[in-house]
Amino acid sequence: MRALVIGASGQVGGCLLEALRARGHEAIGTHAHHPLEGLGHLDVTDPATVERAVREARPDWVLCPAGLTHVDYCEEHPAEAFAINRDGALAAARAASRVGAGFVFFSTEYVFDGTGGPYAEDDAARPLSFYGRSKWEGERAVLGEMPRAVVVRTTVVYGPDRQEKNFVYQLIRNCRSGQGMRIPADQVSSPTYNVDLAQATVELCERNLGGVYHLAGDGVMDRFEFARIACEVFGLDASRLTPVTTAELGQKASRPLKAGLGIAKAKGVLKTPLKSPEAGLRAMREVLEGRG
Ligand SMILES: NC(=O)c1ccc[n+]([C@@H]2O[C@H](COP(=O)([O-])OP(=O)(O)OC[C@H]3O[C@@H](n4cnc5c(N)ncnc54)[C@H](OP(=O)(O)O)[C@@H]3O)[C@@H](O)[C@H]2O)c1
Repeated sequence: MRALVIGASGQVGGCLLEALRARGHEAIGTHAHHPLEGLGHLDVTDPATVERAVREARPDWVLCPAGLTHVDYCEEHPAEAFAINRDGALAAARAASRVGAGFVFFSTEYVFDGTGGPYAEDDAARPLSFYGRSKWEGERAVLGEMPRAVVVRTTVVYGPDRQEKNFVYQLIRNCRSGQGMRIPADQVSSPTYNVDLAQATVELCERNLGGVYHLAGDGVMDRFEFARIACEVFGLDASRLTPVTTAELGQKASRPLKAGLGIAKAKGVLKTPLKSPEAGLRAMREVLEGRG
């Protein structure tokens, strides 16, 4: 198949390009504010340009990990969050629909309020933040626009990444420099290995599966426990990690606390395994050490 990845300069988009090409598909990608060799520029808030780019790409699938992902920034800039995460995604879905392509929208466990996780795909959404709301409204808009729409919800994505900005890279840097790190011990989630997320998404496209899927790691744990396991796997000194409550961090946007994504639906349908956090961290270490 031929795929267009909008937002290929980001963590998930980069993995999607790799997974698509590794599985023998043709894939091209775009960036917005961070130019990268081999990627064309595309801003999803410009519908006419989106329409033209999708038409010229002649894709069978448009995958759209593009988004305004900084949760606290979104809280202070809601108009920007809705323009990119909802309206931009909808413009891209419309353009995909016009050329007969399928469309994958990337969403988040932040559509839930974190009082009763782990959540299944059809559990009631109640986002606590503008980021979560912009994604929830994006989901509704995209699913209402076209029959060949897929919504992939994920969370706490980590793994090898050119940008080196995900949580595990931050943890490694802080531990190796002897700097402390305050980590919330009351945010429960399902840390997700980025390579698995990308491969599982490509499998959904290959098999023409539509609807909402939770693609997340196989295990629900709080962030401090995840950090502790990462320290074990990477041989880091965890003694300078301090467990704190989310409230102590004083973040602008509220976080869902008892969250996590149930993956029974994906496990029942997909051949691609979704690793446990420990297995994903081991796989990441192998890649960083050049053995993966
Ligand atoms: N990472 C996670 O833990 C996580 C958790 C839950 C859900 N998700 C969802 O998964 C998706 C991918 O996440 P990620 O970690 O890959 O995010 P990321 O690393 O922040 O990448 C975001 C991508 O969106 C692009 N982008 C930003 N504004 C754009 C615009 N106006 N038009 C077109 N592209 C634009 C960025 O391009 P430039 O960098 O070139 O500007 C970048 O390629 C997001 O939609 C996010 O909400 C991620």
